[in-house]
Amino acid sequence: MKKVLFTDYDMLDVSLERKIFADAGIELVEGQCRTEDEVIRLSEGCSALLVQYAPVGDKVFAARPGIGLASRIGAGYDTIDARAAARHGVWVANSPDYGVGEVSLHALSMMLSVIRNIARYDRDIHAGTWHYTSPGKIPRAQNLTVGILGLGRIGKRFAHYAQPIFKRVIAHDPYLIEGDFPQYVQRVSLEDLFRQADAISIHCLLNEETRGLVSEQLLSLMKPGSYLVNTARGAIVDVDGLARVLKTDRLAGVGLDVLPEEPVQPDHPLLSDPRVLLSPHSAFYSVESEIELRRKAAMNIVNWLKNGQPDYPVVIGTRQPPN
Ligand code: NAI
Repeated sequence: MKKVLFTDYDMLDVSLERKIFADAGIELVEGQCRTEDEVIRLSEGCSALLVQYAPVGDKVFAARPGIGLASRIGAGYDTIDARAAARHGVWVANSPDYGVGEVSLHALSMMLSVIRNIARYDRDIHAGTWHYTSPGKIPRAQNLTVGILGLGRIGKRFAHYAQPIFKRVIAHDPYLIEGDFPQYVQRVSLEDLFRQADAISIHCLLNEETRGLVSEQLLSLMKPGSYLVNTARGAIVDVDGLARVLKTDRLAGVGLDVLPEEPVQPDHPLLSDPRVLLSPHSAFYSVESEIELRRKAAMNIVNWLKNGQPDYPVVIGTRQPPN
């Protein structure tokens, strides 16, 4: 019987995955691996990995030549070392298009919430203060320029939602051709994005180029009273630099769905700043999107085991499924 390792998961119930693999006649081994060594230990005899957050890279691929595919439950696949996979001929697949609406709406909700001070009003009322200026001044959204870093699937949908709300939409994405920018989105350089936008939403991938890209220096280019939202990946923002910039008046509000270390440590300085709105990496989530996400990630493996081709490959491998 073909065997697959579910490396780790934070879902409360994995009956969906159990049923998909059982129906396909595949044995599912379940783990809660935190290290590559744990993945190696549990993946004996396995042909593929279904991965949530466990690290998977060179060590695993070298130790387990029988593993031909790592399928990530998610659009981002930065927990899987794609370069190492390519070197070893291992396929990498993801679930890219299950939650475009959810993430872009979550980003817009966070942006509007920090601009309109929604969470701060709520906190103030619970603390006994009832006044429309309690958290500070609010600018008119129709006068603001919104900026997007990374105009892929989610960035484009965010632009579509944001366009009727804000005065202008600008974006930076070095990998798109001119025709990929919607007409109402003005293309700008990275520095101009941070200089001109009143509110920025981050939607690029996390890779070696974008790790720490949103640095203290870039954030310092923003106008006083600006807003920043990150629903992409925590490590794209230098959070220590962000904490230093928050000591100035440059940022009036920050919305973060993702952090370099998740869950956030309870004594993290960002937790005590009332301008920072947090959510627990939940931008992807709706009942429907979660089912679609998990089904697509699992079906990558079922179909690769059946015909050597996952539905959503991001690295084309050379390793073949067992007969
Ligand atoms: P996508 O691949 O469609 O778009 C990413 C865009 O980033 C591409 O257009 C690419 O050209 C651009 N990009 C690459 N390097 C860049 C750079 N140096 N500067 C600016 N842009 C750059 O990806 P998609 O589906 O739109 O996802 C975007 C992000 O959202 C990913 O980081 C993903 O991990 C994250 N995400 C977060 C979720 C959450 O629950 N918080 C759920 C789903 C995705």
